[in-house]
Amino acid sequence: MRGEPLLSIENLTVDLMTVNGIVYAVNGASFTVRKSQIHGLIGESGCGKSVTVKAALRLFDKKRSRVAGNVRFGDTDLLHCAEGELRRLRGGSVSMIFQDPMTSLSPLEKIGAQIEEMLTNHTELSKTKRQAKTLSLLEKVKLFPAEKRRDQYPFELSGGQQQRVMIACAVACEPQLLIADEPTTALDVTIQAQILALLRSLRDENGMAVLLITHNFAVVAEICDHVSVMYAGKIVESAATPDLLAAPAHPYTRHLLDCMPRGRAEDGRLKTIGGSPPRLWERPFGCPFVPRCSLAGEDCAVMPEPEEIGPEHQVSCRRARSRPSGAAAFGDGRGL
Ligand SMILES: Nc1ncnc2c1ncn2[C@@H]1O[C@H](COP(=O)(O)OP(=O)(O)OP(=O)(O)O)[C@@H](O)[C@H]1O
Ligand SMILES: [Mg+2]
Repeated sequence: MRGEPLLSIENLTVDLMTVNGIVYAVNGASFTVRKSQIHGLIGESGCGKSVTVKAALRLFDKKRSRVAGNVRFGDTDLLHCAEGELRRLRGGSVSMIFQDPMTSLSPLEKIGAQIEEMLTNHTELSKTKRQAKTLSLLEKVKLFPAEKRRDQYPFELSGGQQQRVMIACAVACEPQLLIADEPTTALDVTIQAQILALLRSLRDENGMAVLLITHNFAVVAEICDHVSVMYAGKIVESAATPDLLAAPAHPYTRHLLDCMPRGRAEDGRLKTIGGSPPRLWERPFGCPFVPRCSLAGEDCAVMPEPEEIGPEHQVSCRRARSRPSGAAAFGDGRGL
């Protein structure tokens, strides 16, 4: 049923071993993607968005990573289920697309063959049915004429068209959840809008949920039902998109919104958040936003638990309801 939890991530921690030491990339992240929901995961570069989803799908080498917490997809415990079950899920009920299609598409194989391979690996369809389905998928992602596109190689297509091929591969087996990691970052705004519209229509037609990773609030405002804001490997705020845009409670969320292109400083220049995200060489103990937060006090030295401040609106901040003076600034939906 629409609205039931589909992917639940609870208290996820991910430590990655590198030649320079351990990176504490995810530090107790929790959020839930519900059935048929388009859920945005937003945060600055390096805050742990991609590592979160890769760890949830067990894509890290066990020898170079430590992953703890709870990740459930429906009834399946993703962190502990058998390898075979995980392989069946990946590309079947859960699929993933990345920012740069050229790293995922094979340059040597025709587009049709790459889509068909997904169907061969995850369905029992006959060759004739696979071929017919490949054509209908190409039409679904609006790559016309489908017969011609099927026989082209990725290099013959534009970036936006390649991203459509990636989406066709990802939705070939009618997943319940599509994880899209910055699928439009490399594209110009017109093509970006078309790809977002395509994702929304796939959700509307098939009831597929989407976990959309982005660092752009305009993308969230355009397409997401719900949004979780990540900072230093933690979810600091999570809410239905209209609620979060109308009343952002965490100082970090407010700063992110204020940095949107229309939230310009008085001199017309784009605002930025002072300071930079923490380097993740040690596990943050207190609130990791403290060094950049004008509202921080001594009590912020201990990380606050998430607090429910509205229906499905959680925030982890002791100053969640405080506003710096004169800051109707935030939360009036301006700039969106
Ligand atoms: N394979 C890896 N090995 C070691 N460290 C990694 C690896 N992948 C990511 N990291 C580190 O983990 C932290 C989180 O990275 P992650 O890629 O999840 O950020 P992100 O939020 O997806 O950023 P972006 O918006 O730039 O994609 C960063 O400090 C990054 O350098
Ligand atoms: Mg990333």
